[in-house]
Order: sequence, then C-alpha cells, then structure tokens
Amino acid sequence: MAQPYSLLFCHAAQVLTLAGGPTDRPLRGVDLTEWQVIEHGYVACLGETIVAVGPMSELDAGRIGPATRVVDVSGRVLMPGLVECHTHLVFGGNRADEFQRKLQGESYLDILASGGGILSTVRRTRAASDDELLASALHHLEGFRRYGVTTLEAKSGYGLDAATELRLLRIARQAGEQQAVRVVPTFLGAHVPGPEYKGRPAEYLQMLAAEVLPALNPAEVPFVDIFCEEGAFSVEESRGYLQRAHERGFGLKIHAEQLHDLGGCRMAAELGALSVDHCDYLTPEGAAAVAQASGGRTVAVLLPLVPLFLRQEKYAPGRAFIEAGLPVALSTDFNPGSCPSKNLWLALQVACLKMGLTPREALAAVTLNAAWAIGQQATCGSLEPGKRADVLVLQVPDYCQLPYWLGENPVAQVFIGGAEQPA
Ligand code: NIG
Ligand code: FE
Repeated sequence: MAQPYSLLFCHAAQVLTLAGGPTDRPLRGVDLTEWQVIEHGYVACLGETIVAVGPMSELDAGRIGPATRVVDVSGRVLMPGLVECHTHLVFGGNRADEFQRKLQGESYLDILASGGGILSTVRRTRAASDDELLASALHHLEGFRRYGVTTLEAKSGYGLDAATELRLLRIARQAGEQQAVRVVPTFLGAHVPGPEYKGRPAEYLQMLAAEVLPALNPAEVPFVDIFCEEGAFSVEESRGYLQRAHERGFGLKIHAEQLHDLGGCRMAAELGALSVDHCDYLTPEGAAAVAQASGGRTVAVLLPLVPLFLRQEKYAPGRAFIEAGLPVALSTDFNPGSCPSKNLWLALQVACLKMGLTPREALAAVTLNAAWAIGQQATCGSLEPGKRADVLVLQVPDYCQLPYWLGENPVAQVFIGGAEQPA
C-alpha cells in the first residue's frame, strides 16, 4: 500500500505546473508559453517533496489518510514558489538621501562618480556589526517570503575588501539557515573597485582573485559575478576575472549592458555564464549572439524595476529577446540603490507593460527560468513529482489576473518544503 499523502491541495481552479517543456535547458521561444496548466487540479506531497500533480478526476483517494492535511483551494490558483534569482540582500543603511538627488535629475553614474551610490552603501556596510547586517537580511527575507519567494539568490558586493566580502557571504549563509527561504549566495566582490583601489580596477581584481576566490568553496558559494560597466569594470577586465573564477569551479554571472552596450553579455555567454543580468542596452542582434554563443543555456535576467527606479527611458526589449531565442528570467535586483523593492509581482507586471512579455512568459520567468539562472532547476521552479514542496496559494481564480492587479500581492498562503509559513 502506498503511503498516505502528508499534504494535499485539492480543487484548485488552476494548477500552474510550469511542466511539460524541455528538462535539459531553460525555457525559450514557445516553451515559455506552452507549459501545462491543469484546471480543477490537485498537488500531493509527502514530507518535503511533491509526489503527485494532476486533475481532481485522477486523484487517488486511497492515499488520503487520517494524518493527511487537506487544503481546499477552491477558486484559487496554485503555483510553484517564486524564485528570486538576483538580489543584493546584505547591506547596511539605505540611500533615501540619494533618492532626493536622483529626483532632482542627477544620474546613477554621476552619483557613483561623486563617491556616492554603491560606495556610500559600502561605508555603511563596513560600519555595521554582524548582528545588524544579519537582522536586516532576515527582515528582508521575511518580506520576500510574504510575496511568495521560496528560493533567493543573495550577492555580496558592499564590502569591497577581502575581509568584509567574506563576512557578507557568511551572513547570507547564516540568514539562509535561520529561516525557511533557501538562500543561494553569489560572490560579487567585483561590484566596483574598492575605495582603496580607486582608479586601479585591474589591481583590485587581482587582489580578489588572489585573496578571496581561494578562500571560497563553490559548494557553499556557487557563483561569481562582476559589474561590467563604465565606472566599474571593462569587458576585458571582466573576461580575465571570470576566466579565473571558472577555473576554480565557480558558475559565472555578469551585470552587463545595464547603462551602455559594451558587449559584456556576449563575452560572458562565450565563457558559459549561467546568466547575464540587466541587459537594458542589449540589442536584439546582441541577444541572438548570446543565444547562439551559449547554445540557449545562458539566461538573460531582466530587472524591470531598475529602469523604473532610475527614471530611465530604456527597458530591455524582452519581447525581441524571446523572439531571438534567448531564455529570459525576471527579478527585482533588490538593493539599496537601484531597486529598494522586494515586490517580484510588480517586476512581473512591469515586464508585461514595458518589456512586452505575456503573462505566461512572465510566470515562467519568475519560476523555472529563474531556477535555471541559479542552478536550482532540479529542486524548484515547477510543480512536479520529485521537486521540493514549495507551493503558493494565490487569491485569484485565473493566472491572467496576476499582471493586472498592479502592485498587489496575490499570495494567500506560502508553503516551503511542505511547511506552511506564517502570514
Ligand atoms: O544591480 N548595477 C550594479 N549594481 C546594483 C546596484 C547597486 C547599488 O546601486 O547599490 C544593480 O543595479
Ligand atoms: Fe544587481
């Protein structure tokens, strides 16, 4: 006799499975649209794992026992937990003061060049204690969880010296251990040259490669990222550094084509990067080159709340990227400078409004493709037997309403590994 289910969601108006596409690479082109939606469906779990998904007509009632928790989700949508694949979770202070300067017309790069921007958060982060940074990270994780985020990537990058960068990565890991949202850390020491290395980016990268990379274990910190941009690092500097990280066994990521079309995305795709992030200035031709260089494996992580918050006209042409065969994911880019919002639903909505994604494409971009962008596709991003029971109950009857209720949080209940989270 098969074991009774420990948790059963039944009578869902729709189950957004995200299943049915290729399993060996991220979704692209029509795959982003053609994943399976089950009307009047169920999801069954055993412990931390999903064991069955299907229409109610196929539910095995023999596996409902006295200990089964049955959650009737009539009139509601079920979907996999959101995967937030690009955040700068751990930082000190905030930049509300600079927001005023920005509203008066100063640009992001001008504020950075004047010693503000990333560097002002570096000063506040270095001055903060471990306990303060951990408390702040836990506070933000709780906010993400309320929006239905169940897995989250967290970058370092506000230490910019060896000791503080290692401290931020340790705090990100601790934050992951102290609450239910799974945290995947990324080393972004190469955010901008540290203040002690002003005007010497190559020497700064040399220091990171010699002193920090050897101190990191890719099993604990799987990814290395770099900001390739004017005022940060050039394409050639980024290439050399990412190559060294690759040789040490790290997966690669890049912040590129955020403010200029320098060619960083293509370079990173040639090195096998898992993701190229921002891409507001990546052209459709550039997107086709990225798709070709990576054989469709590199995911473009689009961050629509960043141009919104930076008052920028230009948004990544997501529609054209999809037509060029590039897999896309969406994220907030949560950080104190270019996006202080944790609302991944708002990012999804703005992606539909300003980047031309359809609701189905945008949903794939915050779940399965986001999981691919951080190497977590085997455990999350879809509702399929064998995956972790990260399940959202949404207070809408149809997924088409998700991009429509602008700014709202549609999440009624969050389950992580089969455990319901506090509201
Ligand atoms: O992803 N673009 C570079 N880094 C962050 C912003 C960091 C900051 O302004 O503090 C980003 O947008
Ligand atoms: Fe970022």
